[in-house]
Amino acid sequence: MTPALLVINLQSPAYPHTMHTCTIFALISLCALSLTARAIPLVVRDSPVTLPFARRLNFTGSATLLEIDQARAKALKARSQSQGKFDKSAVISVPATNQAVDYTVSVGVGTPPTQYSLLMDTGSSNTWLGAGQSYVVTSSSHDTGEAVDVFYGSGFFFGEEYLDTVTLASGLVIENQSIGVSSFAEGFDGVDGILGIGPQDLTCGTTSGGECIPTVVDNAFLQGFINEEVVGISFEPTTSLSITNGELTFGGTDSSKFTGSLNFVPITTTSPASDTAGITDTGTTLVLLASDALARYQSATGAVADSNTGLLKITSAQFANLQSLFFNIGDVTYELTSNAQLWPRALNTAIGGTADNIYLIVGDLGSDSGEGLDFINGMTFLERFYFVYDVTNSQVGFATTAFTDATTN
Ligand SMILES: *[C@@H]1O[C@H](CO)[C@@H](O)[C@H](O)[C@H]1NC(C)=O
Ligand SMILES: *[C@@H]1O[C@H](CO)[C@@H](O)[C@H](O)[C@H]1NC(C)=O
Repeated sequence: MTPALLVINLQSPAYPHTMHTCTIFALISLCALSLTARAIPLVVRDSPVTLPFARRLNFTGSATLLEIDQARAKALKARSQSQGKFDKSAVISVPATNQAVDYTVSVGVGTPPTQYSLLMDTGSSNTWLGAGQSYVVTSSSHDTGEAVDVFYGSGFFFGEEYLDTVTLASGLVIENQSIGVSSFAEGFDGVDGILGIGPQDLTCGTTSGGECIPTVVDNAFLQGFINEEVVGISFEPTTSLSITNGELTFGGTDSSKFTGSLNFVPITTTSPASDTAGITDTGTTLVLLASDALARYQSATGAVADSNTGLLKITSAQFANLQSLFFNIGDVTYELTSNAQLWPRALNTAIGGTADNIYLIVGDLGSDSGEGLDFINGMTFLERFYFVYDVTNSQVGFATTAFTDATTN
């Protein structure tokens, strides 16, 4: 099984190679992720197929935002290090807890299609439903007879694998898509399942047949809807509990959603054990740094842990001195401004915090650097930078957006 995902590419056992150095200086916090740059222009379609996605915040469980993200990080790490023999016991001990922050797309399944609300996930690749509303069997449903089960950081599902027609958008109706139909799911209250848009390798061995399952992106390409297996992701900062302000683009990028040029770095293929790894993940909300790097960030910023939210918090005076966090990806430096490092203050109470506090979205990964997964750039990073996962050319790209420097929070 391949490792984690939508790799920003910084290295993981299977998508290895790049060097990454993360140094946090005394007053200026600087996290430099050095990658080999490769500027390969991507074909931009005249009319890419786009699909809106929504963010919803709904804290009902007892776990904090940080605990939920850490549970996922632990599962991603276990999976990336499992070399095909994923030890479920490594993650099943994590209590199932609901997502708290959902990024969902509405996807049609069947003929005629029934709409399901699915979590958009670049860190997993099985598409499945049935956690919320039940699967509606139609004329295009075909039961493969195979069982399926997938474990995530803070939840899991098991059920039966079907082939069915999946409607992502009016111009993108995929036939014979392999989908899981859950008979039991935990950790997915409020959603119906997952739209898995990560690498196909992550599906291998998830069904009783043992085969690898083409993802919706693979099938969209195989069935001629898109010229290249490319997914663009646009997201924007928000201070609303619930908003549809994201956009998934299949087969290209949406140039109206970014400024400047896209800069690509390859997803690599060798893995010196001494290298470190990081990923960009839509299933993670925060920006997580390895514990040792986080400790340096903490001493540079003066932030202290807040037990109610799990997040770091700073005083107004510390915020006034907060420096940007710089990510050097390839030859390009991406600046996560001080504002971008804040949890939106208007949403403090929605995550169990105090209205007047200033919380940071940079948090503890839960393990030290050098263990194969050293940071995760979650959705709070993607609120500031456009992201492209280019399966065809084995690369990922980033670009600044109109919101990179926005003083939203
Ligand atoms: C889907 O499967 C059916 C039945 O095997 C087949 O007739 C049809 O051509 C397939 N469609 C695609 C797009 O592969
Ligand atoms: C929040 O989640 C709970 C439990 O899943 C659900 O009952 C409630 O309707 C949700 N609230 C919103 C606003 O979605």
